[in-house]
Amino acid sequence: MKGIILAGGNGTRMYPITKSISKQLLCVYDKPMVYYPLATLLSAGITDILLISNPNDLPSYIKLLGSGTQLGIKISYIEQLKPEGLAQAFIIAADFIGSEDVCMVLGDNIFHGNGFNELLVNSVVKVKQSQNATVFGYYVNDPNRYGVLNFDKSNKISSIKEKPLNPNSNYAVIGLYFYPNSIIKIAKSIKPSKRGELEITSINNIYLDNNKLNVELLGSGYTWLDAGNPDSLLEASNFIQTIEKRQGKKVACIEEIAFNKGYINFDQLKHLAHTLSTSEYGQYLLNIKSK
Ligand code: G1P
Repeated sequence: MKGIILAGGNGTRMYPITKSISKQLLCVYDKPMVYYPLATLLSAGITDILLISNPNDLPSYIKLLGSGTQLGIKISYIEQLKPEGLAQAFIIAADFIGSEDVCMVLGDNIFHGNGFNELLVNSVVKVKQSQNATVFGYYVNDPNRYGVLNFDKSNKISSIKEKPLNPNSNYAVIGLYFYPNSIIKIAKSIKPSKRGELEITSINNIYLDNNKLNVELLGSGYTWLDAGNPDSLLEASNFIQTIEKRQGKKVACIEEIAFNKGYINFDQLKHLAHTLSTSEYGQYLLNIKSK
């Protein structure tokens, strides 16, 4: 399965912070925001990754993450000339996806929780075997900011509505999507919504109508944060700081994950650690023990 990180958009909801820097490069406590979605893909076992961003910001991502070889993975980059909706990613990425299945994670989405890694790995297998799409619902108190699950009287999901004024439920669809290869054809077939965007929600409704959408509701043991505005960015930083300090373990430490997953060996990990050793993050890497 291939992986996509969508780090596009102009970040206008964060102006003036994002006038000169991409939103997904802002820090969430001790690391750039993009580390979190990258960690999600690495934990899912996905090592061939495409990062999509706008032409101005792409060079900064390349500077930060390079070709991925230092992590034992492959990262490619492609420009999104004009942000025209999340679903546009699959059209831009069609050649990259080729004949494989694909997982897309939004660049400002942060996930954490016991069992989350198993959930990721299982989702990759499930999509491959069933050729159905998988998305996740998460209970929030402000669903109207998101794609929202609509349930019918028998508690079956009947549709997904994008940013509804009067949400039918509190279940938001999180920014992590697993699709079979049919996604390319479906993305090319949808029309822009009233707000002029190719909506991921339109895609998910097509899979749902064709009985090919697997929706998993995440319980409260999981944490889903989006760092898309100043408040949620600060909350995300505080959350990560709290658990990292309490547990002495870093969240979304991509070097550690690459080592634990066997993408790099201990020597490669130590080399990476030395390049960062003046920071607390680098010191953390230096203290990781060999297996
Ligand atoms: C997008 C999607 C929405 C989804 C959300 C998750 O919204 O359109 O369906 O629930 O991401 O973060 P946006 O962040 O572009 O407003």
